[in-house]
Amino acid sequence: REHRYRVVHGGWEHVLRVQLAGVRLGVEALDFGLSVLPGDRAEQRARLRETRDLFAFTEYDGVLADPGTYSSDTVRLLPPGVLPEELSMEGFITQIDPPAHGKLRKLVSSAFTRKVVADLEPRIAALTQELLDAARERGRLELVADLAHPLPVIVIAELLGVPVGDRELFKRWADALFERDAQLSVTDTGLERQALVESSTRAWREMAAYLGGHAAERRRRPRADLLTRLVEAEVDGERLPDVQVVNFAMVLLLAGHITTTMLLGNTVLCLDALPGQQERARADRATVPAVIEESLRLLTPFAAVARSTTRESELGGVTIPADSYVMVWLAAANRDPRAFPGPETFDPGRDPNPHLAFGRGIHFCLGAPLARLEERVAPGILLDRINPIRTDPEDPVLFIPTPTMTGVRRLPLTWPP
Ligand code: HEM
Repeated sequence: REHRYRVVHGGWEHVLRVQLAGVRLGVEALDFGLSVLPGDRAEQRARLRETRDLFAFTEYDGVLADPGTYSSDTVRLLPPGVLPEELSMEGFITQIDPPAHGKLRKLVSSAFTRKVVADLEPRIAALTQELLDAARERGRLELVADLAHPLPVIVIAELLGVPVGDRELFKRWADALFERDAQLSVTDTGLERQALVESSTRAWREMAAYLGGHAAERRRRPRADLLTRLVEAEVDGERLPDVQVVNFAMVLLLAGHITTTMLLGNTVLCLDALPGQQERARADRATVPAVIEESLRLLTPFAAVARSTTRESELGGVTIPADSYVMVWLAAANRDPRAFPGPETFDPGRDPNPHLAFGRGIHFCLGAPLARLEERVAPGILLDRINPIRTDPEDPVLFIPTPTMTGVRRLPLTWPP
């Protein structure tokens, strides 16, 4: 399976093929996502069939606008024993439904404001320059390891107020949690699967303990950081309990960098692969945001989001029983010809560009302003310093081998003198 996603870069058409394969394999992707179940794949399928059917839809409005029917709490569908009991999803904002979701969102939004984000611009620019200087000294630039991964991790760590020096830890935890599904999909023995499930659970526990320690410290000794604002935030006289602060910080630390890493890589791929794009962007920096939005549309980093049905419902003429998984393929919605004429064409001139890469409805990405800021600043500096931006023909580009994520794991660039 993996060879379909691990593509040696040969131009734009490969990128499209990988992405389309991901969209078409929507139903298969459900197996990937659910492969945390014990046993081999045949057993898992049998076990899932016994309990519920799986549904994959590219239809989106009906699902994302109706959280009462299509709940974000998908963990409740996992059979008992898959997640250790002490792991609480409280405060894990992406899994929470109204009314609790609205209250939590209001609280965390009061700490994570547009002003907090906008003030980061000079720091993001300085960091990008520093990271590029270090790569220049080494004489090579692998975009993911040298810039697209460290930049958002450092930004989110500094914002939260956790030591940037621990970022290797964050990477290890993020890999264990996010790429677990990808690894499970190419692992066949029950024993190896069990080991992967255990390693991701261990990562979760370690991360919760780590952030819990920092949150407790902020209650004792407040500082000027987001963790302090989270422990102090109040709505209607109520503060967040510790477990919710920790779980929300965990969402930020994970969601705050993986996606942004993917987007930066994808945008650079677009600049490299599409004739004339990079020259236009260099000549007129005001066009960079539109390039980012079109990259978000065509190479949607989170290709799909999951929901679970709370009652029987109907979508596109199909009856879906209660307690089913529903995958909403944002990547497919982003190629819907009714919304995007000529959907397969990369066209930064689209206006409007109502893509769904940041989701839609009550769970709309809280970090979108930060992601957009990082993506405006970093490619701008890359365009200044590297001319032309080109992938290294000697060194292959590697994609993340899971259909629900669209991004590169490795993107070597040449650096002309
Ligand atoms: C939610 C995508 C960057 C924090 C979401 C959702 C999507 C998304 C699709 C909706 C999930 C759902 O409906 O189930 C992206 C993309 C990003 C990005 C494509 C970058 C290119 C960030 C950053 C942060 C962040 C930088 C934080 C620093 C969040 C949070 C939520 C969320 C907290 C949950 C909101 C809620 O449930 O109310 N993101 N995200 N994201 N994102 Fe992002």
